[in-house]
Amino acid sequence: MENGTIKRIAVNTGGGDAPGLNAVIKAVTMSAIQRGWEVYGIRDGYNGVFLPAQYPNGDGVIRLTQEIVKDITAMGGTILGTTNRGNPLKFPMKTANGTVVEVDRSDEIVEGLKRYNIDAVVAIGGDGSLTMANEFHKKGVRIVGVPKTIDNDLSGTDTTFGFDTAVSFATECIDRLHYTAKSHKRIMVVEVMGRYAGWIALNSGVSGSADVILIPEIPYDIKKVADFLNGTFTEEKDYAIVVVAEGAFPRDGGYAVIEKEAGKSERLGGAADKVVEQLSHLVKKEARTAILGHLLRGGSPTTFDRLLSLRFGAAAVRALEEGQSGVMVAHKVPNMTYIPIEEAIGKLKTVNPDGETIRTGRELGICFGD
Ligand code: F6P
Repeated sequence: MENGTIKRIAVNTGGGDAPGLNAVIKAVTMSAIQRGWEVYGIRDGYNGVFLPAQYPNGDGVIRLTQEIVKDITAMGGTILGTTNRGNPLKFPMKTANGTVVEVDRSDEIVEGLKRYNIDAVVAIGGDGSLTMANEFHKKGVRIVGVPKTIDNDLSGTDTTFGFDTAVSFATECIDRLHYTAKSHKRIMVVEVMGRYAGWIALNSGVSGSADVILIPEIPYDIKKVADFLNGTFTEEKDYAIVVVAEGAFPRDGGYAVIEKEAGKSERLGGAADKVVEQLSHLVKKEARTAILGHLLRGGSPTTFDRLLSLRFGAAAVRALEEGQSGVMVAHKVPNMTYIPIEEAIGKLKTVNPDGETIRTGRELGICFGD
């Protein structure tokens, strides 16, 4: 599958959904059709070819046409479905004695792709999906990755689509929470997604005029947060906004984890509740949480994310046409370029605690809990 003329490609979306996935699918489909290629969409990550029995007539693959993709640029989610469970490289299998072990079932996917005569794949996803793409490349599959994540934590690319939409919506929510916090003279503690990186919290918190921003890159001291908050309350300003990344943790503690199972990535949650619980002993004001969670992933992509997604999709097809494989489309402002997938995976892009946005926040009087 690695060499030769392309007649038929497949595209899939893996991991958490992100605004802009459909725009990438559209650009891939249209660019490929223009080159005379047929385009197929694999449903739910690789499940469409991996676990076909789950689908009507054992067929988890959809033919993508101009008509199907015509109006999807502005749509949130993914028309192909996705999954962040059951990684085929570490597929959870129950043994005879009831224990769960992780098994590599990637060969079944390579076989599945052959069954459909797929010559090349565009894999849209984050760190996990790109790690899989790299394994398939090593097994001879012609494959190009497109970086997706609302968390902005992928290395090797300046931007990932979905992040701008998530930050814009988080900022809007923080703006709204200012009014209700002010009316009730409360502290509103807003939890945003981002996994082990604080990009969403930082960018929305600074833009939304938060008093305190807590991110994983700067473990916080709750006493310092409380002292800071107590010092900001005046007759005129008797409320506060605290933005907490889901991965934020206290200096003397760890991540707030809600789920950890074999074959599944750790689920974070509860960081804001932890902050409220700790503050309740140190601050006289009432503190309430607002968890934005999956709201940040839904909705229509911003103009920035739409254009970025369309550019990523078209660039992925160009890469396949050029005969590239095992690469990820990377946005190195202002250009789209290609880097080996290997360079993007395994190391997260996190916030530099001495970086310019943090410095700007500090100069605006924001407390980072340190
Ligand atoms: O990686 C994207 C992300 O939205 C993270 O910010 C979050 O921790 C995770 O996915 C949540 O995933 P799930 O859909 O499993 O709740």
